[in-house]
Amino acid sequence: IDVRADFYVELTSEDEILTLIHGQLKDHPDFLIMGGGSNVLFVKDYQGLVIRMANKGIRVIGDSDKHVTLQVSAGEVWDELVNYCVRNNFGGLENLSMIPGSAGAAPIQNIGAYGAELKDHFKALEAVDLSSGEKRKFSLSECEFAYRNSIFKNEMKGQYLILNITLELDKDPGIHTDYGIIKQELKAMDVDKPDIRAIRDAVCNIRSRKLPDPEELGNGGSFFKNPVISNDKYHMLNKDFPAIVSFPQGDTHHKLAAGWLIEQCGWKGYRKGDAGVHQNQALVLVNYGTASGQEILDLSFEIQKSVDEMFGVKLEREINVI
Ligand code: EPU
Repeated sequence: IDVRADFYVELTSEDEILTLIHGQLKDHPDFLIMGGGSNVLFVKDYQGLVIRMANKGIRVIGDSDKHVTLQVSAGEVWDELVNYCVRNNFGGLENLSMIPGSAGAAPIQNIGAYGAELKDHFKALEAVDLSSGEKRKFSLSECEFAYRNSIFKNEMKGQYLILNITLELDKDPGIHTDYGIIKQELKAMDVDKPDIRAIRDAVCNIRSRKLPDPEELGNGGSFFKNPVISNDKYHMLNKDFPAIVSFPQGDTHHKLAAGWLIEQCGWKGYRKGDAGVHQNQALVLVNYGTASGQEILDLSFEIQKSVDEMFGVKLEREINVI
């Protein structure tokens, strides 16, 4: 999306971050902290300061028989971290391969894919309070992680800048193939006894097939969250739509595949100007070239309306609209 910010700064060290907070940040009432910018849709020019975290470093801060503890700077590219872990046989992040974005942004929405979530291997993070400049540690429980959610999208929104995250990885990695499509992919790859490298390869294959590469076709991944509904509502829908794709959530709720709902409404592969719905994954909205953020957003409203009309289900946005 072609937009401009009035001011932009990249911060590469903690000193630079603290200097900004104690100094010029006061002159910028409106500011926005960005990681890789991969989950953001700008609908107009940004009249303020965009701060991009670019501090780098992966440090081993703990090492035992079973685990290795890593402290990762916020500006590290997420997938380079996953690759580093797989190369060193540190298990836990491989199902989260190829998710675009930075390590520091990962906790904001508790990134997840193929049966795994950041929270499964997360220990803590260090952040700086943007009003006082004081550093604070957040433990796993303090982050209040949930499906594509954390305290940083709620009570603490915009209050903290994440400096680094601490993860605990397994030296004798368990393999997570519960997500059906991974099993199928491993079979197609002719792998009987998968290690974490095979899981990473399988996830990369699946993602490359289904999801458009943001370098080639502008997109922010899933535009909406998969809606979670009560069992009662699910049973009613299932009567009318026996093919509905869903996953039980405990004993009381079901999560629906939003991509399926959107596809049933006829949106898959739709294109209006340069704004469209991806042809292989209806949950992903794409920019074929010169679509504006507003055009993408307007398309998303139309999709929400038709899903609500057909299924009585309200889709909630996953993407942050600025
Ligand atoms: N489906 C359709 N039509 C579509 C797309 C999906 O019918 O156009 C149905 C299929 O039955 C498919 C099922 O929905 O089996 C699930 O689809 P998929 O495995 O592609 O996953 P998703 O639920 O659409 C979620 C995450 C993705 C993540 C994948 C894999 C959310 C909002 N999205 O998508 O995360 O990569 O699972 O775990 O939870 C992201 O957050 O940006 C993202 C890409």
